[in-house]
Amino acid sequence: MQPNIKLRPFEPKDLEQVMYINRMCLPENYPSYFFMDHFKRFPETFLVAEDKGVIVGYIMCRIETGLLSFKPLGILKRGHTISIAVLPEYRRRGIGYALVSKALEAMAVKYGAKECYLEVRVSNTPAINLYKKVGFEIKKIIKGYYADGEDAYLMVKKLVHPLG
Ligand SMILES: CC(C)(COP(=O)(O)OP(=O)(O)OC[C@H]1O[C@@H](n2cnc3c(N)ncnc32)[C@H](O)[C@@H]1OP(=O)(O)O)[C@@H](O)C(=O)NCCC(=O)NCCS
Repeated sequence: MQPNIKLRPFEPKDLEQVMYINRMCLPENYPSYFFMDHFKRFPETFLVAEDKGVIVGYIMCRIETGLLSFKPLGILKRGHTISIAVLPEYRRRGIGYALVSKALEAMAVKYGAKECYLEVRVSNTPAINLYKKVGFEIKKIIKGYYADGEDAYLMVKKLVHPLG
């Protein structure tokens, strides 16, 4: 990633720019309270990429309690990637990869999550490739997951705490 691009936690002053990127880049759009709720509950996994004060990408996640996909099976904390986007003119520069990697690290280190999962449109090759590059695997297809009827892949990655 270019040195002029900085990753940092989301701050309330970023809300308008993040919502603009969300509306520009994705059909799944959310009201402001949805973003603010994730910021308040899971601030360590809501990150932005900034270029000279301008927000050019974001990732927003949450931590849930649920059944793990990997051994040891059981009920533990799981990260869930809710939304990620990078402005078109900033793509293919490693920003998406950096955002996902940093959010995954925070899930494990700050919140003790043991795995991360996400849903992605089966047609969204750039995102699927990004997630595979970070280490996600396709677990299953969720039929008709999206409002327009498109199927989703459920993708999962085991998280390892860097200090064991
Ligand atoms: C998906 C998205 C976040 C990727 O962001 P990005 O900053 O361009 O990603 P990176 O530059 O870090 O790319 C990392 C890897 O992803 C894959 N990738 C990214 N864009 C790709 C494309 N257009 N075609 C194929 N693979 C692609 C590649 O494997 C790439 O590694 P490489 O450059 O070494 O080949 C961006 O395309 C985007 O905002 N898309 C619209 C929103 C969206 O679909 N979000 C995901 C919803 S689940």
